[in-house]
Amino acid sequence: MIRLTELIKKLSSASLHRFIHQDFHEAVDRMTIIDAFLFLIVHSIDKLGLWHRLPVFLGLLYLSVRRHLHQEYSLFNVGRSPTGVRYNPADYPYRTADGKYNEPFNEGAGSQGTFFGRNVLPVNQKDKLKKPDPMVVATRLLARKKFIDTGKQFNMIAASWIQFMIHDWVDHLEETEQIELVAPKEVANQCPLKSFRFYKTKEVPTGFWDIKSGALNIRTPWWDGSAIYGSNEKRLHKVRTFKDGKLKISEDGLLLHDQDGIAVSGDVRNSWAGVSILQALFVKEHNAVCDTLKREYKDLGDEELYRHARLVTSAVIAKVHTIDWTVELLKTDTLLAGMRGNWYGLLGKNFKDKFGHVGGAILGGVVGLKKPENHGVPYSLTEEFVSVYRMHSLLPDYLQLRDISAAPDSHKSPPSTDKIPMPSLIGRGGEKTLSGIGFIKLMVSMGHQASGALEPWNYPMWLRDVVAQDVDGMDRPDHVDLAALEVYRDRERNVARYNEFRRALLLIPISKWEDVTDDQEVIEALHEVYGDEVEELDLLVGLMAEKKIKGFAISETAFIIFLLMATRRLEADRFFTSNFNEETYTKKGFEWVNSTESLKDVLDRHYPEMTAKWMNSASAFSVWDSPPPSPNPIPLLFRVPK
Ligand code: HEM
Repeated sequence: MIRLTELIKKLSSASLHRFIHQDFHEAVDRMTIIDAFLFLIVHSIDKLGLWHRLPVFLGLLYLSVRRHLHQEYSLFNVGRSPTGVRYNPADYPYRTADGKYNEPFNEGAGSQGTFFGRNVLPVNQKDKLKKPDPMVVATRLLARKKFIDTGKQFNMIAASWIQFMIHDWVDHLEETEQIELVAPKEVANQCPLKSFRFYKTKEVPTGFWDIKSGALNIRTPWWDGSAIYGSNEKRLHKVRTFKDGKLKISEDGLLLHDQDGIAVSGDVRNSWAGVSILQALFVKEHNAVCDTLKREYKDLGDEELYRHARLVTSAVIAKVHTIDWTVELLKTDTLLAGMRGNWYGLLGKNFKDKFGHVGGAILGGVVGLKKPENHGVPYSLTEEFVSVYRMHSLLPDYLQLRDISAAPDSHKSPPSTDKIPMPSLIGRGGEKTLSGIGFIKLMVSMGHQASGALEPWNYPMWLRDVVAQDVDGMDRPDHVDLAALEVYRDRERNVARYNEFRRALLLIPISKWEDVTDDQEVIEALHEVYGDEVEELDLLVGLMAEKKIKGFAISETAFIIFLLMATRRLEADRFFTSNFNEETYTKKGFEWVNSTESLKDVLDRHYPEMTAKWMNSASAFSVWDSPPPSPNPIPLLFRVPK
């Protein structure tokens, strides 16, 4: 019987090979017969470059098949999965300080200090860490020549938001040993730093034979609001008031500061004023949930109020990210339907509000599933996930302040006033600058300013000479060239280069520079740095250079990691699945999450007049003077992309 199935598989693989790019033959041979046929469909659509042009419901079908394939073949565990006595999740109906006790069969999964997982098997590059030289790559292909923005699509709140999320999810443990990068002669006069020193990523043995070493995540990778609560008990202790469940916040609605002038918050490393005001906003949100719960449930004490409010606030953050931020980042009808589908399912919000979660992930949404799903791999975020979130080009050179004492014009736009250089808004100095500006003025200014675009030659020069900080937010003595460092980091962490990365994600690889972009100037520069060696193209450069799908602010290559991991953050977490209910969140708390749809809703709760006066756009993440989209009578699922 086994022989017969093997025989059928061999025959079908052999016939499938004829229609499939040869680089995928091995991958297809490892798939089940059904998955191999599903891949054939996905691959055929890819060859035509068609999926994003399909009617929305067909585009969604493509994406759900692709996501299924990645759930099966693009998740690799790093480190051991502890086997022991199963704990009882009912003993922990709340998010713990360090992320333990979320996954029912593996108490440590997703906790602080666990391994980064993998979406692509590690590619050892120890012999070519400096090939081509990271300073050359940064200078010739990344460094900003002239600021390129995202038009009206994505504003500075959106850029700050994603950094706020990064500070919830990932950060690498470093070695105590430093290394140095020196600018080669050919580019030295164009590099703000002729050399710089930084700490290596700590490489930790896994005790396993397949992936022998890995790096540790010092933030909890769960979507648990750790940018405001911290990733361990000690930090949590710093931010709590221990009264009525609340967190510390200053009278002026900004974060408090310690004796060193460092903000009191869950995560303060390598931050700036834009992230600081989002942290402050969600501390206010947390405290408002505490007030409501205390009014409703009089006998809840400090600890219970804190726990429930943390669940609610983290879920609000995850929801804003899923159905508001991402929808602006990937501004197409297919992704609008897909992201709402992840939260509410194809049956939609009205249905879910009335009848609760019905059906599986497709009909009812990932959120509220009866059981968390980790696809057989303990939850973690991955090295590849970190690499595709290297989005420093979103940052401009200065922040354009607005005069909010003036009257708004017909697009609700306030007049421009001072330009504040970005370096004066980072770190401790940035916190001081922020207290002079104030919450509303900074939020409105960021709302009206477009972010940078993820394109070649758009990496801020000021980040090529920046003070990096340690985990406590203290400035380090050494300045770093972040653009060069990022190129080095991906290599050091064995992240596949661009073409291998695509191959491993079942995306058609490139064979010449013209396959990445049709911009001749970029093609020439790629040629100059890498010659004809397309396999050497660094991931970060490829992600910037890749021609973007219309409406997408990121590359398709990066998007595939999002497709897999954005769903995983929700479906692997029991507080978004089996424990996403009134019993765990309280009735009021659950209502709070269900009735909050966007960042605008959160802003309106705490600053009721601000968006009415200054925001013309529909989403707080697009540039605020842009008009809301005109109504479209065609039902979303049946729309055809223009
Ligand atoms: C003023 C704003 C920012 C500053 C000063 C800053 C600075 C830094 C620094 C110093 C590092 C550590 C580099 C290393 O040692 O490897 C880093 C890492 C990183 N940053 Fe930023 N950054 C800023 C904004 C952003 C934004 C907007 C994003 C967008 C997603 C972002 C994403 C990342 C990612 C993904 C990492 C890697 C984290 C890791 O290695 O685990 N950063 N940043």
